[in-house]
Amino acid sequence: MTASAEITPHVNAEQYKLLYAQSVKDPDAFWGEQGKRLDWIRPYTRVSDVSFAPGNVSIRWFDDGVLNVSANCIDRHLDTRGDQTAIIWEPDDPKDPALHITYKDLHRSVCKMASVLKELGVTRGDRVVLYLPMIPEAAYAMLACARIGAIHSIVFAGFSPDALAARINGCDAKVVITADEAPRGGRVTALKTNTDQALLHCDDDVKCLVVKRTGGQTTWTPRDYDYNKLAKTAADTCAPEPMDAEDPLFILYTSGSTGQPKGVVHTSGGYLAYAAMTHEIVFDYHDGDVFWCTADVGWVTGHSYIVYGPLANGATTIMFEGVPTYPDTGRFWDVCEKHGVNQFYTAPTAIRALMAAGDDPVKSYDLSSLRTLGTVGEPINPEAWNWYNTVVGGGRCPIVDTWWQTETGGHLMTPLPGATELKPGSAQQPFFGITPVVLEPTTGDVIDGNDVEGVLCIATSWPGQMRTVWGDHERFEKTYFSDYEGYYFTGDGCKRDADGDYWITGRVDDVINVSGHRMGTAEVESALVAHGRVAEAAVVGYPHAIKGQGIYCYVTLMNGEEPSEELRQELRRWVRTEIGPIASPDLIQWAPGLPKTRSGKIMRRILRKIAEDDFGALGDISTLADPSVVEDLIDNRMNRE
Ligand code: WTA
Repeated sequence: MTASAEITPHVNAEQYKLLYAQSVKDPDAFWGEQGKRLDWIRPYTRVSDVSFAPGNVSIRWFDDGVLNVSANCIDRHLDTRGDQTAIIWEPDDPKDPALHITYKDLHRSVCKMASVLKELGVTRGDRVVLYLPMIPEAAYAMLACARIGAIHSIVFAGFSPDALAARINGCDAKVVITADEAPRGGRVTALKTNTDQALLHCDDDVKCLVVKRTGGQTTWTPRDYDYNKLAKTAADTCAPEPMDAEDPLFILYTSGSTGQPKGVVHTSGGYLAYAAMTHEIVFDYHDGDVFWCTADVGWVTGHSYIVYGPLANGATTIMFEGVPTYPDTGRFWDVCEKHGVNQFYTAPTAIRALMAAGDDPVKSYDLSSLRTLGTVGEPINPEAWNWYNTVVGGGRCPIVDTWWQTETGGHLMTPLPGATELKPGSAQQPFFGITPVVLEPTTGDVIDGNDVEGVLCIATSWPGQMRTVWGDHERFEKTYFSDYEGYYFTGDGCKRDADGDYWITGRVDDVINVSGHRMGTAEVESALVAHGRVAEAAVVGYPHAIKGQGIYCYVTLMNGEEPSEELRQELRRWVRTEIGPIASPDLIQWAPGLPKTRSGKIMRRILRKIAEDDFGALGDISTLADPSVVEDLIDNRMNRE
C-alpha cells in the first residue's frame, strides 16, 4: 500500500538501504556526522564508548563534548527565526485564544523561569519535579532546567498525590513546580491540592513553585512560591550552563514488570541529537512546517516530539492542553485546520475512539495541510490504520507506525515516509544505526532469517538510549541486560515477516498497555493489597476495543469479608487514589483462590488466558497446588463487554 502525499522525503528507498548499511557498519562515522546537528560549546572528539557486558554496562556518546540543550533548542535559532512561532499553545477550551509563542518569546520566558529557579537555590545537577498541565510553562520549565543544568523529572498530571510523592522522594527533588489547577476536557484537577498532599510525605526542604493557570489557587503554605509574582522581577536573560554531553538532562519514571516505577535517565548530547534526527527524518519534517504531537509532556513522547526534537530543529510545535473528545469528537481536526498542521502524531487508542464517532466529525474540517501521520504507543490494528489512512489522511499521507520506548529516547523502528511500502500494523524497519535481533525466548539464541517470531533485543547502542536507572545502576543492568547477555532487552515480542519487516506483538513481561499508557501489573497489585479488606490480588491485561488493553483484577478478600458491588467501586476508587485515574481497574473478579504452583508462585499465564476468554487452551495445570481454583475462576469470569 502506498500513499502519494506531496512529500519530498529526506530519504528514498534506495538511500535508506545505503545509509542504513553505512550506519550499522561504521556507527561512529555515521553518528559522528549526525552529532553535528547540534551546536557544541566544545566539539566532541570521541563518538561512542559503549559496553553491554554484564556487570559492566556503560553507555556514553560524544562524551568529551560540551553543549547546552536549551541553547540548542532556542538561542541558536534567534538570529534566523527569532520571530517565527516556536510553540502554538491550544487551550482546553476552544473559545479561549491560542497563543503563538515566538522563539524570542520562548527565550525570554525560559530565561525568566531559569532565573526564578536559581533564586530558589537550584543549581547544576539538582532535580526539579514538574507536575503541570499542558501549558507553555511546562515547556519553559523543562528548558529552564536544561539551561541551568538541573535535571527535570516530569510527573504526568493524572498521577495521584501518592505517586507524585514517590517520585519526588525517588529523585530527591529540591523543587516541585506545579499549577493551581489543570483544566482538561472541561473539568479541572486540583494540582496544587494534590501537590500539598504529596508534600506531606516529603522532606520539609522541598520547595513548591506554583504557576497560575486558572486563578483557582486557595491555600498557600510556607514552602510555596508564587511563580507569576517572582517572574515579574526575575531577569529575562540567563546564560546557558556549559554541560557535558553525558550530564543527565532528565529522569522519567516508567513502569516495569517488578516493583515500583524506575527513573529512566537520559543525558544531554546523544538524546538531543537522536530526538532531532528522528523528528526530522521520520516525520519528513521540513523548515516552516507546523508539527503536532498530541501526547502529554508527562510521557516520553511529549519530551522527544513536542519539546526537544521539534525545537532543536527550529520547528513550530503545538502544545495541546485538551482531550480529543472535548468539546466534541471533532476537536483534533478542528485544531489541525485552525493551525494548518502538516505532521500529526497520535496514539492508536485515540484513533479508535474517534473512529467510533464516525467519519462526519473529520469530514467537516479541511485537512489538506496534513502530509504525514504518525502513531505510537501500542500496535495499531489494521481497521484503525485504514480509517486513519483514508478518512483522516484522504489516502494521501504516509502513516509512520513508530515503535519505541521511554528507554530508547526516540523511534527505533518505523516506516519512513516516501521510502517504505507501508503495511498496516507493522513498524517495519529499523531506524538508522538500530540493530534489532529476534531471540528464541528460552535459549536466547539468535533467530536468523525471515518469517520468524521471538523476543526483540537490540544488539548495539544508539545515542538516544537511556544510560541508567536513577540511583540504581544495578537495576538497570538487571532489567535490560541480564536476560539476554550482550543485548538490550526491550521487553517486547516481535515477528519478522517473509519480507523482513518487523511486527511488534506486545509485551512479553508483566507490563500492560492501557490507552497507550504503560503500567506494571505489579503496581496495581500492590495498590490493591494495600487496602485493608484485600488479602491478595493478581492483575493482568485483556483485549479492550478502545484502550488496547484493559485492567483485569483477581481479588481475594480477607477472611470474613463479603464481596459486594460497593466494595468493587471502593477498590476502583482506591486504586485511582493510590496511583491515578489511568490505573483504574476495568474488571474486578472475586477470587476465592488464585492458581499457584506448589512453591506459591501465581501462574499468571492461566489468569491471562481466563481474562482473555481463551480458557480452552490453559495448558498443563497439573503442577498447581490446587487445580480446582481454576474451575471456579472460569465459572465466575467477568463479562468483558
Ligand atoms: C509499546 C512509548 C507496537 C511497546 C513511546 C513498548 C508499541 C511500549 C509501539 C513502550 C508501536 C510503543 N507498535 N507497540 N508503534 N510503540 N509500543 O515506554 O510495547 O510508554 O515496549 O513508550 O509501548 O511504552 P512507553
